[in-house]
Amino acid sequence: MAASLVSTRPRASARQPAPSSPARGRWVEHWLESLRDIDALRSAHPMMDAVIDEIDGRMIRVGDQWLADFASCNYLGFDLDREIIAAIPAFLEQWGTHPSWSRLLGSPVLYEQIEARLTALLGCEDALVLPTITHIHGSVIPLLAASGTIFLDARAHKTIYDGCLVARSRGAAVRRFRFEDPDHLDELLAAEQDRARLVCMDGVNSMTGNAPDLRAFAAVARRHGALLYVDDAHGFGVIGERSPTEPCPYGLRGNSIVRHFGESYEDVVLVGGFSKAYSSLLAFIACPTEVKNLLKVAAPPYLYSGPSPVASLATVLAGFEVNERRGEQLRGVLHRHSARLLARLAELDVHTPNRSQLPIVEIPLREHGRIDAVGRMLFARGVYVTLAAYPLVPKAEVGFRVQLTAANTDAEVDLLLAAVGELAERGELQSASAQRSASAQRRPGAA
Ligand SMILES: Cc1ncc(COP(=O)(O)O)c(C=O)c1O
Repeated sequence: MAASLVSTRPRASARQPAPSSPARGRWVEHWLESLRDIDALRSAHPMMDAVIDEIDGRMIRVGDQWLADFASCNYLGFDLDREIIAAIPAFLEQWGTHPSWSRLLGSPVLYEQIEARLTALLGCEDALVLPTITHIHGSVIPLLAASGTIFLDARAHKTIYDGCLVARSRGAAVRRFRFEDPDHLDELLAAEQDRARLVCMDGVNSMTGNAPDLRAFAAVARRHGALLYVDDAHGFGVIGERSPTEPCPYGLRGNSIVRHFGESYEDVVLVGGFSKAYSSLLAFIACPTEVKNLLKVAAPPYLYSGPSPVASLATVLAGFEVNERRGEQLRGVLHRHSARLLARLAELDVHTPNRSQLPIVEIPLREHGRIDAVGRMLFARGVYVTLAAYPLVPKAEVGFRVQLTAANTDAEVDLLLAAVGELAERGELQSASAQRSASAQRRPGAA
């Protein structure tokens, strides 16, 4: 890798969109037209559908260009942690690469160990692990909802939404409540006749980087006899129980949103994953033992899906050890990087929805049509981020998402701050003060 963070060599030529075929029907043309923005980016933009040729720490090579990576979800840097990497071969020696029993047919004892450690970490009654959160939402939401009514966060993650669609196809009704609005949920629940109620929402939001007020949502759900189902994919490993001794506002131990808000698991089901902070392919549902045992026979992935690879199970077990010994230090680094970026944005008067100092920082553009140019400029400066294009997000939110990890270096964050400063100077980003006064005017009762 070149000594400087940014390579001066020209990068590989951009890919071209596929030529249109004469055999294509008109409906295909119409459908493709509606996705034109995103497809143009995917086919021609170096930061979309990119092939990563090589990594070196948190630097990645795409073609000839080396970039600092701010698009991965490996918040604690476990993917690169030497202690975790060194722990894996012994597990492979013992278990081979991949036990291909589905879990109902044969669960290596590693699963029992993971579920026991996880249960202790979360402070819940019990936990069941399955390969991914997507598997959990698609199978568990329909079971919990049965033919009752689901109250779905209007901006819930796509995988929660899809789980609710499966539930609907099996007879559940779905109502949407406004994002971050427990009062609206309260209104909908109060008006609902159906006694079987399930509330589905995100924990730490994957775009705004903020956690919902879980205490308020749990209180509303309990008051109306509903079960609250929360997906904290991005919070697990990052936020945890609060303590006067905590080194940063993320709290301690990374034991997720329920503990972070000092809430109990009474009528709350927590879903989370190891594929973000723990850099492994595994996910969990924290629930009472009775529910766990029922899910073992009723949730299809426990029987019908293949299990996680042994390297993933080993990564989780080694990750628990590292989390216990060095987790606070890693979260301290993560917080320091995130706080530096947020402080610079504030200094530049650049808008971001992030109010939490968590490591997910979305930066919307002033003009949604500039996404291609802004992405190219960031790429040229050696900064790799997630582009959020229309129609994946509403036009007013088109921009890019920065994710920081404990494995990023200060020099990489410097590079990011310089690029963001340049974009602000060029007038590409939204003004924070203009946003504040616009939202003050929209507030009920504003003059
Ligand atoms: C909030 C949220 N839920 C679920 C998922 C999907 O997780 P998994 O890969 O474990 O299916 C993601 C992935 O990005 C996510 O951000």
